[in-house]
Amino acid sequence: MTSAYPRIRKAVFPVAGLGTRFLPATKVIPKEMLTVVDKPVIQYAVDEAIEAGIEHFIFVTGRGKGAIEDHFDLAYELEATLKARGKTAELKMMQESRPKAGTASFVRQQEPLGLGHAVWCARDIVGDEPFALALPDMLIHGERGCFAQMVDVYSKHGGNVIAVEQVPHEHVNRYGVVALAEDLGNETHRITGMVEKPRIEDAPSDLIISGRYILQPGIFAKLATQKPGAGGEIQLTDAMIALMSEEDFFSYRFNGITYDCGDKIGYLTANVALALDRPDIAPKFRQILLNLIG
Ligand code: UTP
Repeated sequence: MTSAYPRIRKAVFPVAGLGTRFLPATKVIPKEMLTVVDKPVIQYAVDEAIEAGIEHFIFVTGRGKGAIEDHFDLAYELEATLKARGKTAELKMMQESRPKAGTASFVRQQEPLGLGHAVWCARDIVGDEPFALALPDMLIHGERGCFAQMVDVYSKHGGNVIAVEQVPHEHVNRYGVVALAEDLGNETHRITGMVEKPRIEDAPSDLIISGRYILQPGIFAKLATQKPGAGGEIQLTDAMIALMSEEDFFSYRFNGITYDCGDKIGYLTANVALALDRPDIAPKFRQILLNLIG
């Protein structure tokens, strides 16, 4: 689609969180490296970005997250061995899901001061252009990647685009919730406000922020002066609210199902759901599940 707006070339993946909900698994292994079926959680988000045409992958990491860097590097000995043994399918898979030389950057957050602070740490690498942001814990599964759908919306409307999904009204107090104005068609609305974890009776809608964003670089100036908010952390939502008085924000209700892999039940559900969607695994696995349930 040709567009009047600058292309989205870069994606930021904040992966510096401590993953305390998954201890002791995350004592040594970054939570983003936990596997769903046979891929680490972070790889799903990166594959989604590749599908959307992203060219540069920026990981905001922290201490003990070195495995993420190694995962996206060329495993020279492994690839040479696969080649020598004629394992062409495995080799192709490894090559397709690895960013090419010079297209992955890693920056350390140093202290986990919150998601907003993690995003701010990417400012010099992003520079003065709009960018995609994925919270990799939120694994989004569907026919077409969420980012690819969002890039279409951005190409038409520009501005900042926030992926949203509907949740039961009684759950809205757990999430960031958007307030909607004008309906622009194709599940897209102009957003007039956002609130982090509202009281159920105060929630402006049942649409929650799902962990995928297209943001303008103006967010960095807001984050630079953002005071700690909920939980004593520098909150991205607070900075987006500050930016909203100056720039357009749109919500987009994407096609796909979200699994919160930072949470045990969400992670287990993702494994079961994605295994049941795999033709090579589903027939046997379904039978095993049925037997287990009795
Ligand atoms: P979460 O709050 O879900 O991650 O942040 P967490 O803090 O690692 O999880 P728990 O609650 O202790 O189990 C959402 C995303 O933001 C990143 C996380 O890595 C995750 O991808 N994040 C969060 C950072 O990069 N830095 C932070 O300071 C906080």
